[in-house]
Amino acid sequence: MSSTATPRPTLRRELTARPLRCRNCGADRAAAPVSICDQCLGPLDPVYDPARPLPDANAIAARAPSLWRYREWLPFQGEPVHSLDSGFTPLVAAPALARRLGVARAWVKNDTVCHPSLSFKDRVVAAAINAAAAFGLDTIGCASTGNLANAVAAHAARAGLTAWVFIPEELEAGKVLGTSVYGPKLVRVRGTYDDVNRLCAQVADRFGWGIVNVNLRGYYGEGSKTVAYEIAEQLGWRFPNAVVAPMAGGSLLSKLRKGFAEFLDAGLVRGASPRLYGAQASGCAPIVRLVERGGTQIEPEIPRTIARSLAIGNPADGVFAMRAMRDSGGWAAAVSDEDLVDGIRFLAEDVGVFAETAGGVTVAAALELARGGRLRSDDEVVLCITGHGLKTLEAVTGVLSEAPVIAPRLREVAALVERSP
Ligand SMILES: Cc1ncc(COP(=O)(O)O)c(C=O)c1O
Ligand SMILES: [Zn+2]
Repeated sequence: MSSTATPRPTLRRELTARPLRCRNCGADRAAAPVSICDQCLGPLDPVYDPARPLPDANAIAARAPSLWRYREWLPFQGEPVHSLDSGFTPLVAAPALARRLGVARAWVKNDTVCHPSLSFKDRVVAAAINAAAAFGLDTIGCASTGNLANAVAAHAARAGLTAWVFIPEELEAGKVLGTSVYGPKLVRVRGTYDDVNRLCAQVADRFGWGIVNVNLRGYYGEGSKTVAYEIAEQLGWRFPNAVVAPMAGGSLLSKLRKGFAEFLDAGLVRGASPRLYGAQASGCAPIVRLVERGGTQIEPEIPRTIARSLAIGNPADGVFAMRAMRDSGGWAAAVSDEDLVDGIRFLAEDVGVFAETAGGVTVAAALELARGGRLRSDDEVVLCITGHGLKTLEAVTGVLSEAPVIAPRLREVAALVERSP
């Protein structure tokens, strides 16, 4: 039997993206998949209506445990349509790590378990894929050092979108397999990340796709602010004294500053914003060197480090990250590949969290900053651990002690127990 009744109008509000404004010259433009100001080439940021109603702490706390609990500070109007479960990762108390660092208290912001692809890049892709939906784009893509590739491929698969993912030829097996399993168009490019990024700027122009960290970058970056919101909420609506975070393009570090400032402005938290500290591997540390050198110009580098996820020689947000660190009273540190491997082990042994190379860089940098007196004995410190260790097994292969192999006999276990320190 067929019905002749007219369908009832649905009350679904359309998802729209917020308009954009140039961070340098203040020029306004309508919402669009564009990230560079046509007046001065500065970066475009979403604009929020200062008079919009904001939730209080209780209202936020009652919402679902995802980054969308902070939706008033994310660049959309209407309900998000994709990636509803990303974010709201655990903040793990880390007393043994605090003792190792010689600080009063330490926590790990554990984005190794971010949904669905086990890195903080799920946050930025959750933002970008909803921007793509708002603009009616059916293809997204990225230039990636690995984690973003995993995230774009996973989020696109769930949303039923086509994904074009561009990575440098030389990446860890876990990053490559952890992307291709979702069935994207995965392309390996002979060159560094910076070559891949330049190519993707041309790709975005030529094909009109939503390249999340190129023409959707203004929307993408806002996802990183949610790390700051979660830290404040999970500490009981207060700030730590210091936050240490890894840097590649420098977006996460500069968005932490913005996120903390927005929660102060909203009256959700009182007190001083945390001092921000950035971490890089010494084989690719253009932002750390800018902080140390002073000035306002990044000197691009050719990356030489096993921390491939952080291997961006010409970071798009490097200058903004430097300002976030210097203005907040923080600093930066670069660490050797050897030290980052130790950092991975310390984190696993002290906190029970297995991080990829970027996590090792963060822990090793925190140790360096503590040794240099920049993290102090009365400090409360949060370390942002941004990606899972199973993605970069190469880093720890061959450096851990081998497990003994025994016959299934109790006396062989007894012999091991006898010899065990
Ligand atoms: C695990 C991990 N941590 C941190 C970063 C740094 O991110 P940003 O480019 O925002 O500085 C990246 C970037 O790829 C990453 O993969
Ligand atoms: Zn401008």
